[in-house]
Amino acid sequence: MIKIGLLGLGTVGSGVVTIMENNKESIRRKVGTSLAIEKVLVKNLDKERDLDIDSRVLTSNIEDIVYNPDIDLVVELIGGEEPACQYIKEAINRGKSVVTANKLVIAKHGTEILKLAREKGVQVSYEGSVGGGIPIIRPLKESLAANRIHEIYGILNGTTNYILTKMTREGRKFQEVLAEAQKLGYAESDPSSDIEGYDAAYKIAILASIAFETSIDISSVYVEGIDGISVDDIELARELGYVIKLLAIGKRCERGLDIRVHPTFIPRSHPLALVSDVYNAVYLHGDAVGDVMSYGKGAGQMPTGSAVVADIIQVARDIHSGRVVTPSLDTTIKHRVVDINE
Ligand code: NDP
Ligand code: HSE
Repeated sequence: MIKIGLLGLGTVGSGVVTIMENNKESIRRKVGTSLAIEKVLVKNLDKERDLDIDSRVLTSNIEDIVYNPDIDLVVELIGGEEPACQYIKEAINRGKSVVTANKLVIAKHGTEILKLAREKGVQVSYEGSVGGGIPIIRPLKESLAANRIHEIYGILNGTTNYILTKMTREGRKFQEVLAEAQKLGYAESDPSSDIEGYDAAYKIAILASIAFETSIDISSVYVEGIDGISVDDIELARELGYVIKLLAIGKRCERGLDIRVHPTFIPRSHPLALVSDVYNAVYLHGDAVGDVMSYGKGAGQMPTGSAVVADIIQVARDIHSGRVVTPSLDTTIKHRVVDINE
């Protein structure tokens, strides 16, 4: 049996518990042994929870998980930079593999975390950190490994795409649709990260670091969100035959890498213009494969839970079979992120 310590039982954590319960038998067969959620870290032990979970597994003390010798795998789903980053490092230092959907931590501290994991001989997987349920990180690292990637771009934030879709199609007000996206569990606990474009910036930095085999300094990424977009802008775009989408872009260019996030006029006939609501889409061009597009729900409990549980299955299978697969360091080649104003 593989024992799991789950950090966080919010939108995604609850999705993970539900999927693991619903598909228990199939997951057991895929891993080769059963999985047990041994402990769950939450902030508020007294909170009413929709989920049917034995209250004895809940704890508000991280030491019950990271210092617990029975736990093999830590799944971090509390979000934010700290204490999440510290908890991940503590778990790795104690020989536990980690699965996380935390794009902020991976974008800012991924290089250090992956290095630590290699030193300690454990795995770190983060498929859920980009594109919700869309398989993109593992395909980029594995199925597309033969390619030199020239560019990777797309719609990487479900909340802002949901807001722009509802403003465009239904003429609804920004704040009203944001509140709806929060209720649906799409938005970050601090939604300014979605609205101001930082969530998409973390995601494109993660994808670009894998695609271009480098580490990306997140502070060098140009970021502009949708907070300045009005219904008049959307109407103007419509009159001209465009829709406005928040695009995250990573491209090789003569001077290095061009990595940026900003609202963009997209022709109504372009496939990206049709990506609506919480859906995300990622395009890339590789020298051998040509164009590839991935599309699916970019946020939400079950789609993100799907990506996280897939990581859990893969890491648990390796732990069970005694296979040590430490993360590759995607930082060997140095590229400069060019300043958009240069
Ligand atoms: P939520 O805010 O819904 O849940 C957070 C959970 O973590 C809660 O159970 C909360 O406890 C617990 N928690 C928060 N801070 C602490 C702390 N300091 N100590 C102990 N427990 C804590 O977040 P989400 O589930 O939406 O997001 C989790 C992660 O997944 C984030 O990194 C997010 O970016 C990422 N993600 C989210 C997606 C989504 O669609 N929501 C999609 C893709 C990635 P309590 O319940 O007691 O409040
Ligand atoms: N807040 C994020 C979004 C969650 O809306 O895309 C998925 O990473």
